[in-house]
Amino acid sequence: MRLRYSLLQSKMGEGIYIMLTVKPTGAALGAEIVGVDLSQPLDESTFEQIVNVWHEHEVIYFRHQKLTPEQHVRFSQRFGALELHVRKDCCRPGFHELFVVSNIVQDGKPIGSQDAGLFWHSDLCYLDIPSRGSLFYALEVPHDARGQALGDTRFASATAAFNALSDDVKQKIANRNAIQSYKKGYYRERNAGPRKPLSAAQEALTPDVAHPIVRTHPFTGKKCLFVNDGYTARIEDMEPAMAEPLLAELITHSTKPEFIYQHRWQVGDFLLWDNCSVQHQAVADYQLPLRRHMERTTLTGSKPF
Ligand code: SIN
Repeated sequence: MRLRYSLLQSKMGEGIYIMLTVKPTGAALGAEIVGVDLSQPLDESTFEQIVNVWHEHEVIYFRHQKLTPEQHVRFSQRFGALELHVRKDCCRPGFHELFVVSNIVQDGKPIGSQDAGLFWHSDLCYLDIPSRGSLFYALEVPHDARGQALGDTRFASATAAFNALSDDVKQKIANRNAIQSYKKGYYRERNAGPRKPLSAAQEALTPDVAHPIVRTHPFTGKKCLFVNDGYTARIEDMEPAMAEPLLAELITHSTKPEFIYQHRWQVGDFLLWDNCSVQHQAVADYQLPLRRHMERTTLTGSKPF
């Protein structure tokens, strides 16, 4: 277990100093940042430190936040451009940048994506330019009869996974690409039954793409194992007899328990994950009438290398 440590003193507004405290989770990734109210304007040095802590810990979270949709979007925009999700029917009305993940049905219509993220994946890994990271805000969290929170999210460190590979496997995957396929993820078997077919326009937006299996993080330079069960379909330019068992081995390896942090949500949690150095999976252990309502902004990223 790593020690809790104070990170910095930062100036907020006119002469007000706040102390940010970073509490690593003790897992391969993840840290809580204490003492920041994200609804308030943050000065540049505080923001920079948050970004640095995020890059170091790959997942960071702030508890007890009270954000309007505008504040969620505004804070996210400090990191750069935001994605407008392919599934417009799942966005918060009036907020194209806010992707709603929820099992709630209002007036006979789901308010968001009811089965997002049930398979290990990295957001938008199936696009030519995958997402840099995602900012997830917990508005309603389901609980069981004993008051135990349900609907956790699991995060796996792709840097820890890469570092733990044998030299032999590292050699086999060096300079190789894998094909990331939105269709593979979209049409996977789900408890809720088959999804309606994608429209021609949606399909046109999401052709299969090839990305390096070993991706270099654009900010930290760390190597990340960029494969996931949800969307990685095959290894490019490798005989299937060799490629299929190798990809299966990489996918199994990438989510070994020692690379995982499992986040137990509280209402008001605001959590950022990095889509290069982390993959994630939602735990589907609840159903209506237990309600879960989360909203996500998704940062535009850069071409993988
Ligand atoms: C997602 O993959 O964006 C959703 C994760 C979750 O619902 O926990």
